[in-house]
Amino acid sequence: MDTRAIDPQFVNRVKSLLGEEGFDQAFAPIEEASGLPNAAYWSKDWLELEQERVFRRSWVFAGAEAEIPNTGDIKPVEIGGAPLVIVRDKDGSVRGFHNVCRHRGAKLVQDKCNKSSITCPYHAWNYALNGDLRSRPHFHGPDKLDKFENGGGEKLDLIFVRVEVWNGCIFVNVSGNAEPVTDWLEPLLRRTPNYDFSSIRWAGKLEFEIKTNWKLVYENYMEGYHVFSVHPGLLKFAPMNLRWSGEWDEHVFYNDYIFPENQEGRGDGLPHYPNLPEEDAQRGLWFLCFPHFAAEVYPDQFTLLVSYPIAPDLTREELHVFLIGDAATSDIHKKERNSVIKMWDDLNREDIGMLELLQQGRLSPAYDGGRLSPHWEGPTHQFGRRIVEKIIAA
Ligand code: FES
Ligand SMILES: [Fe+2]
Repeated sequence: MDTRAIDPQFVNRVKSLLGEEGFDQAFAPIEEASGLPNAAYWSKDWLELEQERVFRRSWVFAGAEAEIPNTGDIKPVEIGGAPLVIVRDKDGSVRGFHNVCRHRGAKLVQDKCNKSSITCPYHAWNYALNGDLRSRPHFHGPDKLDKFENGGGEKLDLIFVRVEVWNGCIFVNVSGNAEPVTDWLEPLLRRTPNYDFSSIRWAGKLEFEIKTNWKLVYENYMEGYHVFSVHPGLLKFAPMNLRWSGEWDEHVFYNDYIFPENQEGRGDGLPHYPNLPEEDAQRGLWFLCFPHFAAEVYPDQFTLLVSYPIAPDLTREELHVFLIGDAATSDIHKKERNSVIKMWDDLNREDIGMLELLQQGRLSPAYDGGRLSPHWEGPTHQFGRRIVEKIIAA
């Protein structure tokens, strides 16, 4: 890595938390490498570094547009440890704000809701859906109402967060200086030129709370090594001999296979992407756009797996299923749609037990990051390296 692009202060912080050896491990060749040391999975200070240096400086998935379809729909989210709200404004656009009142700093919105404006629960400052302060009751004395026709200016209006929407997916970048979303997605898009993503529609989501570190979700997601022992159904669908390790292309991991036959929940009875060529009709591809946007592309779907750290040992995971056109919502596709969602639910539950064991094993002082399979786990090792690189990058 270019040493000019490194912030030495953060190199020191990483070394103080992981140790010199742990730091070097992240950059070792795969034959000698092990995973990140236990501290990267248990330390609160380490998670704070990840929140501040990785999540806030990246594009992070904040939900499906279809979750806030109507004017005044408001969804609170937490990204990089920062409380935010995603709002459907009157003009139809999706906006993001820090979820904090400009007065004494109360968190404004606690639950998903629909409102014509946002009123602080503490002293009732009122904000428009575009973030403008509208009024402050009793601020200059009893029964006096401060009114603002065009907002209160930069010290009083809600603080914007950068938001971009890509084919029904809402992304947030807290730092505000990430590249445009379509540039960031480019390594995924150039591998999927035959897939018309403008045809995807949101069919629903599954939510899980897992007693594990958020990184383990992706370390597991990337390697097909565990399929033979953890996923009997998936093994039948795509046996080990069809699988390879996948690889990173810039900041995007990808992997794929051609599956021999359709299976309930994958490629079975639902419409395909429009004009998808025959050669892709039995292809599965999966991606991880660093740090946490994991997308699985099958001929009939676009399924996301996203994890949000709550604590070093607690993760909220969401699985969002997008199907093609009206397959996402119409009654005639209900049975097949439910099969897709059930398939993902079953598959994910098979992983959850393992993810929790991985976290518990990292309490062992005897574990040093382990020995990784050079055949399967190069990308997993690189994921750890990318975390460290992003933390120390200037
Ligand atoms: S903290 Fe929001 S109005 Fe006082
Ligand atoms: Fe798995």
